[in-house]
Amino acid sequence: MPQVPGPRSRELTRLREQYVARGVDEQHPVFVASTQGATLVDVDGNRYIDFAGGIGALNAGANHPEVVAAVRAQAERMLHASFHVLPYEPYVRLAERLCAITPGRFAKKVMLVNSGAEAVENAVKIARYATGRPGVITFENAFHGRTLLALTLTSRARNRDFGPLAPDVYRCPFPYLYRSGFASEPETVAACLDAFRGLVEEVGADRLAAAILEPVQGEGGFVVPPAAFVQGVAAYCRERGILLIADEIQTGFYRTGRRFGVEHFDVTPDLMALAKSIADGLPLGAVIGRSDLMDAIPPGGLGTTYGGNPVACAAALAVIEVLERDGAGARARALGARLLERFRAWQAMWELIGDVRGLGAMVAMELVTDRRTREPAAEATSAIVAEALREGLVLVKAGAGKNVVRFLGPLAITDAELAEGLQMLERAFSRVCTPVSRSH
Ligand SMILES: Cc1ncc(COP(=O)(O)O)c(C=O)c1O
Repeated sequence: MPQVPGPRSRELTRLREQYVARGVDEQHPVFVASTQGATLVDVDGNRYIDFAGGIGALNAGANHPEVVAAVRAQAERMLHASFHVLPYEPYVRLAERLCAITPGRFAKKVMLVNSGAEAVENAVKIARYATGRPGVITFENAFHGRTLLALTLTSRARNRDFGPLAPDVYRCPFPYLYRSGFASEPETVAACLDAFRGLVEEVGADRLAAAILEPVQGEGGFVVPPAAFVQGVAAYCRERGILLIADEIQTGFYRTGRRFGVEHFDVTPDLMALAKSIADGLPLGAVIGRSDLMDAIPPGGLGTTYGGNPVACAAALAVIEVLERDGAGARARALGARLLERFRAWQAMWELIGDVRGLGAMVAMELVTDRRTREPAAEATSAIVAEALREGLVLVKAGAGKNVVRFLGPLAITDAELAEGLQMLERAFSRVCTPVSRSH
């Protein structure tokens, strides 16, 4: 790669530093100019393989031609009218489609919003109104967004500084097997379920509207819970009349190899929050759930000016068509198998890789400075991500310790692009890592 960041990127970075708030950070100081499938080109003409997918928003592949055609056709007819003034067809067609493809053989309804955090906010709002209860249970290491309630539901040490946070939010342990401290998976699950049931009884089920759960924790570092845990939470929620909200914003639309992450656990949530890959990068989110809950709120109680924008809806309808037709689930499972195999081979080579885990195409490596203490290797992770970029590979980190390298690229990535990206990542590791044999 000639020069990364190149002169145009450096020039734009100066503008960015002067005019864009510091808190809006970026993983790489490289300005992207165009995207296609799983490749990106920056403003200096450098080409990259994309393992980030705009943070998991591009399962169908960036600028998928059928999505672009649908967007263009809709944009020529109407950019915006607001569904709250005059309804339009793409909104109701998408609502119908989402009801058909989401789990749950009961009557469902939909509301459309603009982002993941907004979907989470509205799911909780609906759960509170429908049950008449204030409390929400969330889990340690969860990520649900950055608006005030979503931020409160999210586990981040820095959140306290944004306080006061939203009230009536309770946090429970999540079975993060690599870091649980228990000797076995059943012990971890039992301890987490005990804590969950204990919290419900301590707060009182009659004060709890819902529990919100990511089927696989995304920003937390691709933490896959054992099925027994998700099933145990769902069963106890049902028993105590607490609603279950699945945050499928990152896991949805075949990322995990099934349409939605909960399908791996045979669990049917009462409400789901969707966003990211729903519309190939256009801003769109959705809450979908049992009709009786969705309709508990009277007319005028839900809404937003742009929610379910017609262009975003047209994109989503095209995305769903493409994913269903092209066998995205099988592709995600195949990609996942290749990634797991390669990551495990690297784990045998490099001491730095403490854990390899994943579900479908949601596969990650957790990097540690010492395999015994499992101290997060944040610096080495940053170094690998930076080296990878110089090689021509775009990655986004994850994990509370900023020490997880993950694959979140388009499911539409070609075999050749995947192989090229993995070669680049391997070279980045080999520059930063000490081989296992030399470290003892
Ligand atoms: C599981 C999950 N929930 C919610 C969000 C927030 O979505 P958005 O950034 O669109 O507000 C994210 C974003 O990363 C997410 O991964």
